[in-house]
Amino acid sequence: MSANNATRRLIGGCRRTFSTNAPLRRPSTTGRATNTANSGQSSTRWTGRSVLALTASTGVLGFGLAAFALDSSPKRTASLFDGRAPGPQYASVKDMESAVKEMRKEIKALGENEDIISIDSDDLHAHGYSEWSTVNPDGLPVAVAYPRSTEQVSIIARVCHKYRVPIIGYSGGSSLEGHFSAPYGGISVDFAYMDKIVQFNKDDMDVVVQPSIGWQDLNAQLSQMDSGLFFPIDPGPSAKIGGMIGTNCSGTNAVRYGTMKDWVINLTVVLADGTVIKTRRRPRKSSAGYNLNGIFVGSEGTLGLVTEATLKLAIVPEETSVAVVSFPTIRDAASAAAGIMQAGIPVASMEVMDEVQMKVINLGGATAPRVWKEAPTLFFKFAGTKTSVKDNISRVKGITGANKGSNFEFARDEREQHLLWSARKEVLWSMLALRKEGEEVYR
Ligand SMILES: Cc1cc2nc3c(=O)[nH]c(=O)nc-3n(C[C@H](O)[C@H](O)[C@H](O)COP(=O)(O)OP(=O)(O)OC[C@H]3O[C@@H](n4cnc5c(N)ncnc54)[C@H](O)[C@@H]3O)c2cc1C
Ligand SMILES: *[C@@H]1O[C@H](CO)[C@@H](O)[C@H](O)[C@H]1NC(C)=O
Ligand SMILES: *[C@@H]1O[C@H](CO)[C@@H](O)[C@H](O)[C@H]1NC(C)=O
Ligand SMILES: *[C@@H]1O[C@H](CO)[C@@H](O)[C@H](O)[C@H]1NC(C)=O
Repeated sequence: MSANNATRRLIGGCRRTFSTNAPLRRPSTTGRATNTANSGQSSTRWTGRSVLALTASTGVLGFGLAAFALDSSPKRTASLFDGRAPGPQYASVKDMESAVKEMRKEIKALGENEDIISIDSDDLHAHGYSEWSTVNPDGLPVAVAYPRSTEQVSIIARVCHKYRVPIIGYSGGSSLEGHFSAPYGGISVDFAYMDKIVQFNKDDMDVVVQPSIGWQDLNAQLSQMDSGLFFPIDPGPSAKIGGMIGTNCSGTNAVRYGTMKDWVINLTVVLADGTVIKTRRRPRKSSAGYNLNGIFVGSEGTLGLVTEATLKLAIVPEETSVAVVSFPTIRDAASAAAGIMQAGIPVASMEVMDEVQMKVINLGGATAPRVWKEAPTLFFKFAGTKTSVKDNISRVKGITGANKGSNFEFARDEREQHLLWSARKEVLWSMLALRKEGEEVYR
């Protein structure tokens, strides 16, 4: 997706209906009380046998493929050739209810008394529908599980596998294209309670985290520890590591730091049948084994659920700054951007917003009292040493000026940096807030 696309709106977009298609009983407790950060002690190392297990089980979580992989009855095969798409074959609502019951029993047997599975209708709705999504298929999950450990995730997956219940991972819920919707019902696995730093390896510049730690929270904790390190991938403000791996996300820092796949060292993953695997070992020099990170990063939870991730960290630059400059047309802004890349100026970020988006920011008031010029605008971040930042800013100023850029403005302190940059980060919410009845925001 391109978050920085010009604003487009679909007037009169279709209204959606959603139904709680599983009238289950409300659990006695859906408490979100304690948070036990058990990390996957039961993990097995990656082996050839696990490769087979992966191949055998991927189809179950993957929507379309599942029916082919698992159902080879003649009727199905015929439908391959007569042009009718074979739909996925999943459990009935009744079987899904049985699966929920069985999961509860098994998890209880582990000695944990809390009921980690919710069938609260608000909960189901919040996990199957989102206002910011470009698509919201009908259907909601029949239950939302809140596992506390890799072991619990494994039980959930194993039981779902047995009953053919779809599993949908859920971390920050900020993805924009219906990634976490539940068209076939199934169980949404929300990692809300698995949000801890498991281990911080300062000297190796990496960190082991659970999937539901937000990138902003991770950075706040790294800063509190005075680590001098940070995690540079910055998609939606509420995004969390599990979902960021799921979408192979980018962010405004991508021009300098790349995307999610560049920062994952290794993963603990629960496969569709409950098998727990580790993708590789931590040493970066290691060249052993398949690139399993590359399979799971960007697979949107269809191949397995990530329950732990080891991530690289970057050095906090000595100096940062933010600059903003506006242009008469998008074309001028684009040629300035190209000029800057071709000059090899190492900007930390570079983002564009068009005149409609700038207007929306003004109307929305998220950055009031500041009023922005309603013209195509480039946003830059600079990072480096004091002298390099100063030097790079003046070169960018030169290039934007040569492309009809005007009102070049750079932040003098941290507060101003934050204010200037917040316009870019607020734009989606401002657009959503200003929608008229029946309008939808396209990105
Ligand atoms: C204001 C705003 C700005 C944004 N800017 C950008 C941007 O610049 N670049 C960009 O790429 N995106 C951007 N996004 C989109 C979004 O933030 C990213 O897609 C982000 O990676 C989603 O993370 P999440 O934790 O919210 O994931 P979720 O929405 O919870 O899940 C995303 C996907 O990952 C799967 N998943 C979740 N947890 C796990 C897990 N533990 N294991 C396996 N699969 C899992 C889900 O099933 C789903 O398919 C933006 C969103 C907003 C609202
Ligand atoms: C990464 O590999 C190391 C071993 O090198 C292991 O201790 C660690 O648990 C792995 N990380 C994850 C998230 O599985
Ligand atoms: C993730 O996205 C990047 C581009 O942003 C792409 O180069 C890479 O191949 C993707 N990674 C995976 C594992 O698909
Ligand atoms: C950015 O600044 C540094 C330090 O002054 C300099 O070495 C580098 O060449 C600059 N980059 C560009 C392309 O201007």
